[in-house]
Amino acid sequence: MFGIDIGGSGIKGAVVHTGTGKLATERVRIATPQPSTPESVAAVVAKLAEQADWSDIIGATFPAVIQHGVARSAANVDHSWIGTDIDALFTQAIGGSEVTVLNDADAAGLAEARFGAACDVSGVVILLTFGTGIGSALLVDGKLVPNTELGHLELDGHDAETRAAASARDREKMPYKRWAKRVDKYMSHVEKLFTPDLFVVGGGVSKEADKWVPHLNLRTPVKPAELLNNAGIVGAAMAAAERRGE
Ligand code: BGC
Repeated sequence: MFGIDIGGSGIKGAVVHTGTGKLATERVRIATPQPSTPESVAAVVAKLAEQADWSDIIGATFPAVIQHGVARSAANVDHSWIGTDIDALFTQAIGGSEVTVLNDADAAGLAEARFGAACDVSGVVILLTFGTGIGSALLVDGKLVPNTELGHLELDGHDAETRAAASARDREKMPYKRWAKRVDKYMSHVEKLFTPDLFVVGGGVSKEADKWVPHLNLRTPVKPAELLNNAGIVGAAMAAAERRGE
C-alpha cells in the first residue's frame, strides 16, 4: 500500500507493508508548495505516486478535520481547503487510483496503536502530536474515533495549541521544563475529560521525550511515540487498506 504524509513543510511518501508497519521503499520527500492550495498539493501527490510507479489505491494524511474525505477545517493550512473533497481531488489528480484521506494525528494514532507505543493496549488511548499545532487521536480498544481535535481545547483563555504546541516553545524560546508546565496543564485537562489508560506523545519533540515527559505530573502513563517520522505514512496506508477491507 502507498502512504503519503502531507505536512506544512514537506510531503512524504513510501510503499508500506501494512502487515508489519515497515516501509517497503525509501521515503521520498517533496517540499510542500507555497501557497499550498488544493491544486498545487494534488500535483505533488500525483508526482510522488508517479515516481514510485504506483497505480494501486493510496492513503494520505492531511492536517485538518476530514469527514468522509472532505476537509472541514483549516487551522494551519490554506483556507481554500475547507469544503474540498480531498479524496476526489487526489483520486482525479492521480488518474483514477482511489485515495483515502484522513487527519494526520488520526493516522499516527492508528499506526501507533497497531505497531508502536500503544500496540495491543486495550481501553482508551490518546495520542497527542506536538508540532506546529497539537493533533489528537482517540482510540478505544484500538478502534479510532476520528477528528477529536483536542488541540483546540481552551487553555488559559487561549486555543491550547497556540500555547502548548512545539511551535509555541520555539517561538517563546522556552526551555523544556517551562514548556512542560504548560503541556502538563493541557494534558491534565484532557485527562479529566477522558480518563485515558495511556497517553502517547508524538511530533518532533518526542525524540527528546526524556527532557520533558519526566516533568509531567499526570496519573496516566505517558509513552513517547515509536514510529516517529513514519507514523503518518504508515497510518495513511493502513486507512487505505482498511477501506478496501484488507
Ligand atoms: C489541526 C488538526 C491537526 C493538528 C496537527 C491542528 O491545528 O486542527 O487537524 O491534526 O493541527 O497537525
